[in-house]
Amino acid sequence: MNHKLELRNVIKTFNSEEGEIKALEDINLNVKPNEFLCIIGPSGCGKTTLLRLIAGLDLPSSGEIILDGKEVKGPSPDRGMVFQEFSLFPWRTVIKNVTLGLKIRGINENEQYRIANEYIELVGLKGFENCYPYELSGGMKQRVAIARALAMDPSILLMDEPFGSVDAQTRNVLQEELLGIWKRTKKTVLFVTHSVDEAVYLADRVAVMSTRPGRIVECMDIDIARPRKRTSVEANEIREMLLMRLGSEYQKIR
Ligand SMILES: Nc1ncnc2c1ncn2[C@@H]1O[C@H](COP(=O)(O)OP(=O)(O)O)[C@@H](O)[C@H]1O
Ligand SMILES: [Mg+2]
Repeated sequence: MNHKLELRNVIKTFNSEEGEIKALEDINLNVKPNEFLCIIGPSGCGKTTLLRLIAGLDLPSSGEIILDGKEVKGPSPDRGMVFQEFSLFPWRTVIKNVTLGLKIRGINENEQYRIANEYIELVGLKGFENCYPYELSGGMKQRVAIARALAMDPSILLMDEPFGSVDAQTRNVLQEELLGIWKRTKKTVLFVTHSVDEAVYLADRVAVMSTRPGRIVECMDIDIARPRKRTSVEANEIREMLLMRLGSEYQKIR
């Protein structure tokens, strides 16, 4: 499917006890179909806010988010979100976590299980269908969250620091698996991370955000052939450029 996402002059302000907080200022972004776009930026710069707006969980204060020619006005199954914290329902088993969205969508029970099993297998959790979240490691829980998002067959997968709380080795494995899934399913992926290494390994393009109010200060194409090598000379060069760009943003908040 030819899904095209466009953000035009998006501004988001929040009203808090200390007054108005400008979280995002004038975000303009075009995301190509099937693109893997990473978004990096200092904490508090509005990355989660940006993904929530694209997901339709919140609305911009001004500006527009256009998906396939239509303005985003609320959540829809065409945009699936994977959150940083393990957001599984603790009282539901793996399979029941994955079928939930399908059930809400009114899909019949046989079909719910068929689809859920397919994605559970895709994320490597076959055999764990009847486990509860407390029986799983952090990496496994995140795999369930990914399976749950994929089961709804979104055209755009929104991922908010999804591997931020797993150990480094698991993170590498999950990155590898996500790239495999992306290749097979041809989804557009918007992936927030604060790891430059992760962005350079995964992305077609990296958007760097400024300190609050968040703006996109740079978009860098990662022209490295896949499969990539984490330690290649080109990867090191791009990492260094991004670290410098990001470093100058961090200096502003010191
Ligand atoms: N619902 C909200 N109400 C008030 N302020 C908020 C709300 N959500 C986010 N913010 C503020 O907006 C800014 C950006 O937050 P967030 O998008 O979570 O940043 P990031 O994900 O980049 O760390 C922060 O200053 C945060 O405190
Ligand atoms: Mg965040």
